[in-house]
Amino acid sequence: MKLQSKVALVTGAAGYIGSTTALRLARDGATVAVCDVNGDLARTVADGIMSAGGKALAVETDVRSPASIEAMVARVLEQHSRLDILVNVAGGSARERASTVHGSDEQVIREIIDVNLMGVIFCCRAVIGHMCAQRSGKIVSVASAVAIQGQPGFADYAAAKAGVIAFSKTLAMEVGRHNVHVNCVSPGLVPRPGTPVEDIPGTNYLGRIASPETVSNLIAFLVSEEGDFVVGQNYVVDGGWSLGLKGRH
Ligand SMILES: NC(=O)c1ccc[n+]([C@@H]2O[C@H](COP(=O)([O-])OP(=O)(O)OC[C@H]3O[C@@H](n4cnc5c(N)ncnc54)[C@H](O)[C@@H]3O)[C@@H](O)[C@H]2O)c1
Repeated sequence: MKLQSKVALVTGAAGYIGSTTALRLARDGATVAVCDVNGDLARTVADGIMSAGGKALAVETDVRSPASIEAMVARVLEQHSRLDILVNVAGGSARERASTVHGSDEQVIREIIDVNLMGVIFCCRAVIGHMCAQRSGKIVSVASAVAIQGQPGFADYAAAKAGVIAFSKTLAMEVGRHNVHVNCVSPGLVPRPGTPVEDIPGTNYLGRIASPETVSNLIAFLVSEEGDFVVGQNYVVDGGWSLGLKGRH
């Protein structure tokens, strides 16, 4: 129970990586605010945590809206009087609308940047004053290996996630002296069960599909005391995908 008496807020917590992370932090002893734009699914995840003996509350939140974010943080503070951990998971590449830059749509580009980058900036801004005053806090944002290596068809997403990494490094510099730690994790492909992945060796060097736990394990380490001297880093968890071109071997 490494996170006993800690209060954690996870955005995108109704999704694949987010729900796995929320469950993991709850299992480690944290009270978890399960925040997502999909309120029904957020409540289902929070109920799952509570029926497993953990502590959780569901908060419907749209990270595209600073007002919605402020209300989410106010609700958690009102109910628990502290906030120790923020995990920014909300986001996604909108794979079904992926396009080359040449053929891209302005609205889609703005949506991708809004959720993946602006959402992280505004969530961090909403908690940082409280964490600095508390003189402790851990923030982990989920970026992507695509931010490091690029991927044709996903330039807007790559730019947003690279922005998350740059933002996090800078924020880490600003708040380190207040004992607030800011880091990123960058997964490679983490497909949901049933998603067809034709070329698994093309997505990593391990030849197997990543589970969401590969990401949540790293997050759980970074937000625990064990990760207490890690500041401003981006940890790639992609089975070596971003190492470069794959040859058959
Ligand atoms: N799955 C992957 O292969 C992969 C790889 C690298 C990075 N990532 C990143 O990991 C994160 C989670 O991905 P996932 O695969 O679990 O996706 P997912 O679609 O299962 O989960 C994303 C969650 O974010 C929520 N969300 C979307 N817009 C929101 C908004 N405006 N406000 C609040 N919540 C919102 C969704 O409702 C959903 O529950 C994303 O940031 C994604 O970019 C995923």
